[in-house]
Amino acid sequence: MRSFVHTIAGVLAGGALLGLLAVPDAPAPAHVDEARATERADEGRALFMHSWTRADPRSVAGNGLGPYFNATSCVGCHSRGGAGGGGSRDHNVNIVGGFVAHRQSWPGVGVPLGAPAGFGGLGIGGLTTATLRFVRGRAPLVRGARNAPALFGAGLIDAIPDETIIAEAQARDPRWPDIRGRVGRDATGAVARFGWKGDVARLSTFVAQAAANELGLTNPGQAETVPASAERSPDLDLDQADLDALVAFVARLPRPVEEPPSALVERGAQVFEAVGCTACHRPRLGAVRGLYSDLLLHDLGAQLVDGAGGYYGAPLKDEQAPLWRTPPLWGLRDSAPYLHDGRATTVDDAVRAHAGEAEPVRGLYEALPPVEREALLSFLDTLQAP
Ligand code: HEC
Ligand code: HEC
Repeated sequence: MRSFVHTIAGVLAGGALLGLLAVPDAPAPAHVDEARATERADEGRALFMHSWTRADPRSVAGNGLGPYFNATSCVGCHSRGGAGGGGSRDHNVNIVGGFVAHRQSWPGVGVPLGAPAGFGGLGIGGLTTATLRFVRGRAPLVRGARNAPALFGAGLIDAIPDETIIAEAQARDPRWPDIRGRVGRDATGAVARFGWKGDVARLSTFVAQAAANELGLTNPGQAETVPASAERSPDLDLDQADLDALVAFVARLPRPVEEPPSALVERGAQVFEAVGCTACHRPRLGAVRGLYSDLLLHDLGAQLVDGAGGYYGAPLKDEQAPLWRTPPLWGLRDSAPYLHDGRATTVDDAVRAHAGEAEPVRGLYEALPPVEREALLSFLDTLQAP
C-alpha cells in the first residue's frame, strides 16, 4: 500500500528523497490517498497534453523539446477516440537504417546523426526522408514503421503478473497444436507486456522512453537520444515527479468498453471463438476481462516481417523478425488503422493479413459464410474506446 510519505516524496522530489526519510509507514486514509493520486494523474494529463517548444519554460533544467523529436506532444500521436488513443498512419514512427547525416533544416523531425545501420529513427509521415542526407550516397532506407497504439487500460495490462503471462504460454489450445505463444522479454530478461514486438516490460519504462525518444525530453528513466555533437543540454527536462505523474495519467486511462450485445453480436462472439481467434486473442487474461490478447509473441508469417527490430529499432535476433505480440483488441473500433505499421485500413484487411501460426484460423475465417463473417465483424465493432 502506498504510504503518505511515499506519495508526498514522489510528488515533490522523486524517489531520491525516499531513502533519507526514516518515517514509520503510517498509511493515510484511503480518500486522502485517492485524492493525491488523482491530483498526480491530473498533472500527468497536463504533461501529456502539453505542446513542447525549444527552451520550454516547463522544462526542469534542460532544453525542452528535442533537439530530435517526432511530434511536440504525447497527444499529438495518441489521440484517436480521445487523449491517450492511437494515431493515424501520418503519425507512424518510421524506422530508418543507413548512415544519417545532418541537414540544416529540421522541420520537427529528427534522426540520430551518424547512426549505424538499423538504428531506430523517426519521423512523421513524409517529412523524414526530405530532411535526411545519407553519407556515402546511400538512398534513405526505411526499414519499417510502427503505428501508435491506443493506451486505454494500459494500467490494467501493467498490473498483470508475470506468472499469468508465463502460464498462458504453457497452456495450449488442443484445437490448435501449432499455435505456440512465446513470452516476450526485454533486454534484461524481464517479462514484457508492451510494444508491438513485446519487448518492453513495464509501463513506466515505456513512458520514460517515449518522452525521451518522441519528444526529446531527458528524464530520470532515459536521456534524449542525441549524439554528443548535437547535445545542447544533458540536464533533465522532466524530473522524477513529472515522470511519475505522466505514468500515473497513462496508468489511469480508463479501459475500453463493450457495447451491450445484440443477438447478432452474440453470434459474432461465438464465431470469433469457433474459428480460433481466441487461441491468441484471449477474451480474458488473469483478472483482466475483455482484453482479447494473450500478450504473447506469435509468428504471423513472412508477409509481416520488416527489418526494423524492436521499439525504436532496438536490435532483435533474426528469429524474432516474424514475431509480434498479440495486440489487445479492446477499443478496436476506435484504433484504426491496424497492424504494427498501420497497413490495414479495416479489421477485415487486418485479419486477412494473418498467416504463419494463424494460417488455419485465417482460412476458416475466409471460408465463413458472409453472414457469419459479418456477425464476427459486428462483434469486434462493439469494442470501443472509453
Ligand atoms: C511520434 C508519435 C508518438 C508520440 C509523440 C508518442 N508516441 Fe507513444 N507510441 C508511438 C508508437 C509508434 C508506439 C508503438 C511503438 C512500438 O511498439 O514499437 C507507441 C507506444 C506507446 C506506448 C506502449 C503502448 C503498448 O501497448 O505497447 C506507450 C505507453 C506510449 N506510447 C506512451 C507515450 C507517451 C507517454 C508519450 C509522450 C511522452 C508518447 N507515447 C508520445 C508513437 C508516439
Ligand atoms: C496465432 C495467433 C493469432 C490468431 C489465431 C489470430 N490473431 Fe489476430 N493478431 C495476432 C497478432 C500477433 C497480431 C499483430 C500482427 C501485426 O501487427 O503485424 C494480430 C492482429 C490482429 C488485428 C489488428 C489489431 C490492431 O490493433 O492493429 C485484428 C483486428 C485481429 N488480429 C483479429 C483477429 C481475428 C478476427 C482472428 C480470427 C479470425 C485473429 N485475429 C486470429 C495474432 C493472432
